[in-house]
Amino acid sequence: YRNLRVALLGAGSVGAQVATLLTEHHDELASRVGAGLDLIGIAVRDVDAPRTAPIDPALFTTDAMGLIESADIVIELMGGIEPARSYILHALNSGADVVTGNKALLAAHGPELQAAAEQVGAQVYYEAAVAGAIPIIRPLRDSLAGDRVKRILGIVNGTTNFILDKMDVEGDTFENALAVATELGYAEADPTADIEGYDAAQKAAILARLAFHTDVPVEAVHREGITQITAAQVAQAQKAGYVVKLLAICERITDPSSGIDGVSARVYPALISRQHPLAAVHGGKNAVFVEAEAAGDLMFYGAGAGGIETASAVLGDVVSAARRHVAGGPGVAETTHANLTILPIDSVSTRY
Ligand code: NDP
Ligand code: HSE
Repeated sequence: YRNLRVALLGAGSVGAQVATLLTEHHDELASRVGAGLDLIGIAVRDVDAPRTAPIDPALFTTDAMGLIESADIVIELMGGIEPARSYILHALNSGADVVTGNKALLAAHGPELQAAAEQVGAQVYYEAAVAGAIPIIRPLRDSLAGDRVKRILGIVNGTTNFILDKMDVEGDTFENALAVATELGYAEADPTADIEGYDAAQKAAILARLAFHTDVPVEAVHREGITQITAAQVAQAQKAGYVVKLLAICERITDPSSGIDGVSARVYPALISRQHPLAAVHGGKNAVFVEAEAAGDLMFYGAGAGGIETASAVLGDVVSAARRHVAGGPGVAETTHANLTILPIDSVSTRY
């Protein structure tokens, strides 16, 4: 099979790491896909801006549209609604599959992008859009497709989890904890989307859509942030055996007054029992707790943000898209090309 042409839009925190992994792991990825993945260019605003990873300067361009037209796979890591939406639609209409981590765009225009992809037989992959490195999109869309999801409780914003955890464990103030979260790079440049719950609401809309097979507009997600939470309230919750967490809750419910069977998606600082597995999610980590009818309770835990961590989810999607191109099918493939030696028991540690 001929090598596949991969275009990258954006070389910020995540994009720069994706470019590095695509280049450094080229041969390994090729053996998993059955074709080389050639990075043909990276569209940015400023070709001379400093980057967080070493990238061949010849790859940079400001001509995103031109780059898209020569690609088999387009990775959108610019963020924001426009021009990301137009670029993705252009990529799909040019016959490329698209990989994106853009939760704001997906929450606002997900159905439009999916419809555009279906129309031309292309696909939009977005594992990185919710909870960074944690695989949650595929489990909901594919692994649980034969089950019925009853409820999702998600810690899907690292900044707010970091702040609330610091208030709970160290008795810190909201303002001080936010300053540290910003220093550590969890918070957005303008942390309003984090602390006011907009980021979590976008992720809730995406999760609810997948879990309940229903379009859930982001405007329909009830949203409250954590700016009103005080150290005294956190201490009071602790005394009562609870911890305060900003939860994205997506639930299948029956309205008690009308009897209508429906869906609720909401984001607010909730009290959660200290015995619940989500209470043990500390610092900037994320976790998604899924309650399904047949499977029972499942929990997905890990890094919800970070350039290299999120790049892992993006690369997984790129491999899926590439396998689809090579196989001409749904892109599900298992490879055992590495053929590693199976080591005996005395070569392993017994402490974890
Ligand atoms: P950054 O802000 O760090 O990087 C954005 C990049 O896009 C920059 O390289 C910028 O170019 C480029 N860009 C922005 N607008 C344009 C434009 N109009 N034309 C061309 N290039 C443009 O973003 P992140 O890497 O943090 O995030 C990327 C996406 O991934 C977002 O959708 C975000 O929500 C999502 N995401 C991020 C996570 C994270 O931990 N950072 C986690 C999960 C998802 P230039 O450098 O020249 O300014
Ligand atoms: N600012 C976001 C967070 C980044 O704190 O979770 C990942 O979406």
